[in-house]
Amino acid sequence: MKKNKLIKKWRWWLPACSLILAAVPAVCQQVFTVQADKPGAAIQPTMYGVFFEDINMGADGGLYAELVKNRSFEFDNPLMGWTVNGKKDEGDMLVLNSTAYNKANPHYLHIRVNNRRKGEWGLTNEGFKGMGIRKDVTYYFSAKYRTGKPGVTVHAELVTPSGEVIGAGSFAAAPTGAGWSTKEITFTASAEEPSAKLTLWLEGNGSIDMDMISLFPGNTWKNRPKGLRADMVQMLADMQPGFVRFPGGCIVEGRNLANRFQWKKTVGPPEDRELIINRWNTEFSHRLTPDYFQSFGLGFFEYFQLAEDIGAAPLPILNCGMACQFNTAELAPMDALQPYIQDAIDLVEFANGPADSKWGKVRADMGHPAPFHLTMMGVGNENWGPQYIERAAEFAHQLKAAHPEIKLVFSSGTDPDGPRFNYLNDTLRKMNADFIDEHYYRSPEWFLANAGRYDHYPRNGAKVFAGEYAAHESKDFTGARRNTLRAAIAEAAFLTGLERNADVVHMASYAPLFASAEQWQWAPDLIWVNSLKVVGTPSYQVQKLYSLNKGTHVLPLHQGGEPVKGQDSLYASAVFDKNTGDIIVKIVNAGQQVAAGTIQLTGINKAAGSATLTTLTANDPVTVNTFDEVPVQPVVSTVPVRQQAVTLRLAPNSLNVLRISNKK
Ligand code: AHR
Repeated sequence: MKKNKLIKKWRWWLPACSLILAAVPAVCQQVFTVQADKPGAAIQPTMYGVFFEDINMGADGGLYAELVKNRSFEFDNPLMGWTVNGKKDEGDMLVLNSTAYNKANPHYLHIRVNNRRKGEWGLTNEGFKGMGIRKDVTYYFSAKYRTGKPGVTVHAELVTPSGEVIGAGSFAAAPTGAGWSTKEITFTASAEEPSAKLTLWLEGNGSIDMDMISLFPGNTWKNRPKGLRADMVQMLADMQPGFVRFPGGCIVEGRNLANRFQWKKTVGPPEDRELIINRWNTEFSHRLTPDYFQSFGLGFFEYFQLAEDIGAAPLPILNCGMACQFNTAELAPMDALQPYIQDAIDLVEFANGPADSKWGKVRADMGHPAPFHLTMMGVGNENWGPQYIERAAEFAHQLKAAHPEIKLVFSSGTDPDGPRFNYLNDTLRKMNADFIDEHYYRSPEWFLANAGRYDHYPRNGAKVFAGEYAAHESKDFTGARRNTLRAAIAEAAFLTGLERNADVVHMASYAPLFASAEQWQWAPDLIWVNSLKVVGTPSYQVQKLYSLNKGTHVLPLHQGGEPVKGQDSLYASAVFDKNTGDIIVKIVNAGQQVAAGTIQLTGINKAAGSATLTTLTANDPVTVNTFDEVPVQPVVSTVPVRQQAVTLRLAPNSLNVLRISNKK
């Protein structure tokens, strides 16, 4: 081999400890070679998505912008969330229960107003640990009512903890005959308040029935009436996720079959959607949440619409006739499975069917005659054992016959290894499953050690959906403090392995997505919210960077002829984006020392003179983002490209995304 050839080879293949960056003393320089002319496996547009579940007040009290808790008096205690103000005489307020009135929502209030002045008698709703009110925003108060004896005026007031009224409106209850009427009034908030309450004063002399007492901000996502919290949806839209998985998660299974998620009960007019207890209400004895119910104001139509709004593929997960095996493990017997399978078949019609089909019409009547373009569906969540396989096989048989165009996702249980996983994984592969859903909630060390997990997976057959994962710090870290930079960096390292194996892994989503700082059950989570603010964790920043830089094809990237999966605590992957012509390299330094890396592109003659580097890091590995301070966020800079090479300083605990333009 000639001398200059040898030097070239050395430059690309060996850690060149003598080539020390001036700014990085005593650091061994690593050389990563990216074969820019060898695009390999396609990266699916669905590669990085989001997992939504109504846990941690994700829906009611979260994404669903309704501010009134227990608006329809259907909680087990029908007045939970409400307090009565003023002296109540016998019979002044009754909770009535009539399925003749509404089968799904039978409770309502019957109120007698006996010569009361404003401020003498009324009701206050506490919201979801207080209502977040924004100055100058218009609020929409509405209520269903039926006038018994005319003469009642209803005053609605937004009140701060110190008693200041920051928004108010009134209506005189008109005669309604035997029927019900809905009244809406609007007012603009005069101040910001994170913890307001809604008080209703009933004035006059008469009687009134009331139900569905509701308050929404006007500035919802896309300004849709009674819609979703715009700041929370924006966080998702900013990620440009490839899919939205919904509605979970264990909530799909329910503690028992009666408590399972049934999509048909979540569509149509909100007042006809049957409320049920949220299974996370009582799941953890150390974090009981007695006021956690599912109103289904955020139901399947809204989930599909959300996915469409943010350009993501919808991925519903349905119950397969099995309740949560950590709880009751109730099973629908095989000869009673048909309604569950029919729900799945009907869901395809709801999402994709013509507007004049039975379920397509429900969608059209809700305002969306066009299809939602459903292409995949999950059968069961974290179910396991031969009972699962038996049911999964029947679902597959019938769904593939009815809808061969729909790809099916099946569960590999709760853990990414062990006999339970092995049995499901092997059996589902033999059954030619389209996707196998793997879950891993593991330590940061596990994520680092498993960056090569998919390097030896079968290249054909079932594809992997990394459907739920998060690096979990030890229990010494609680709540949002579990969302450390270190955990996020371990996830970033692991994601290089998913990306490198994009022929095997087609989808991935961190879980859970949202958590309310006021009332959470599970941590860590991707995004924390309070009544007025949202904050993306370091893990959010990682997911977003991967999603926004996913590219279209994997490029071979090697260090000393090997994939970079932990040598010297470094992890890396490279992709090509055929839409922009860019080459994107992600390098993670999960170590505690600065590293220096040269990224050498081969197979191209001319790359642009500079590249964009986006870095995510902080000095302390246990740094977290808070509502008031976001130390872990991407920092963008420009770096020179010389002779198709870029040299970088890789900070400890850092994700570095390098984007090199290679326009012809
Ligand atoms: O993401 C939280 C929970 O973790 C999900 O509901 C469940 O699928 C998993 O056990």
